[in-house]
Amino acid sequence: MVVQIFDNAKLVSRACATLIAAQVIQKPDSVLGLATGSSPLETYRKLIKMHDKGLVDFSAVKSFNLDEYIGIPKDNPCSYHQFMKDNLFQYVEFAQTHIPDGNVSSLEEEGLRYDRLIEAVGGIDLQLLGIGHNGHIGFNEPDEKFSSGTQVVHLAESTIQANRRFFDSEKDVPSMAISMGIGTIMSAKKIVLIAMGEDKAEAIKGTVEGEITPWLPASILQLHNNVTLLCDRGAASKLSGK
Ligand code: F6R
Repeated sequence: MVVQIFDNAKLVSRACATLIAAQVIQKPDSVLGLATGSSPLETYRKLIKMHDKGLVDFSAVKSFNLDEYIGIPKDNPCSYHQFMKDNLFQYVEFAQTHIPDGNVSSLEEEGLRYDRLIEAVGGIDLQLLGIGHNGHIGFNEPDEKFSSGTQVVHLAESTIQANRRFFDSEKDVPSMAISMGIGTIMSAKKIVLIAMGEDKAEAIKGTVEGEITPWLPASILQLHNNVTLLCDRGAASKLSGK
C-alpha cells in the first residue's frame, strides 16, 4: 500500500482528483468505481473544474457506485442516486453511470446483476473509497467474515449515527443498504482510499498497520497489490511509521 500524507483535506482531494483525471486521460474509456459521503465531495468539485476547463473528458467513462440505501426512492434528497446527480453527474457527462438499485423486488438478483455488469465491462480500473469510523468500505460493516459480491447489508449502529447528519431525523436514516462486497472491491485493478480528519485515525491505523480481519473490513486492502491511501495529518495521526 502506498501511503501519502498531506497537510490538509483540500490537498488530499486535489491529489485524488489528479489520480482520477490521470486514469481517464490514460484510458478514456476507463471504468471508475465511485463513492458517496463527505470524503469525495471536494474531489468531485475539482474533477468538475478540470472537466469545465477541457482538461479531462469523461464521455467514454463508465461508472459504478459502491452502494445505495434500501427503502428510500431514488429521487429522495438523501439517496445516493440523488447525491451523485447533485455532486457530479449533472455537471459531467459519462458514457454510463450505474448505482445499485435499492428498490427492486429481488435485491439478491440485483446484487448478482450488478457484479455481472461490472465483469461484462471488463472490471473496475480505479475504485475510489472512503472509510467509516469502524473501518467499513462500501457499506461492508465489521463482521465474522469478509463478504464477496454485491449484497444486502445491515448498517452498524455507528454508521447510522454517522449518516444521521444527512437526514432530518434519526428515524429517517435507513438501516439497510445494497453494497458492493469486499470481493467486488478487491477485484478492482487500482484502489484509491481517501481519509480526512482525526476521527478516522483509528480506522486508518487498523487499515495500514493492523491485523487483517473482517472486524476491520478495510484491513483487507493490505492484500491488494495496487492501493494508494491519501490522507491528511489528522487521519494519519495514529500511524506509527509517519
Ligand atoms: C460511501 C461509502 C462509505 C463512506 C464512508 C465514509 O459510498 O461507501 O463507505 O465512504 O462511510 O463516509 P464519509 O466520507 O461521509 O465520512
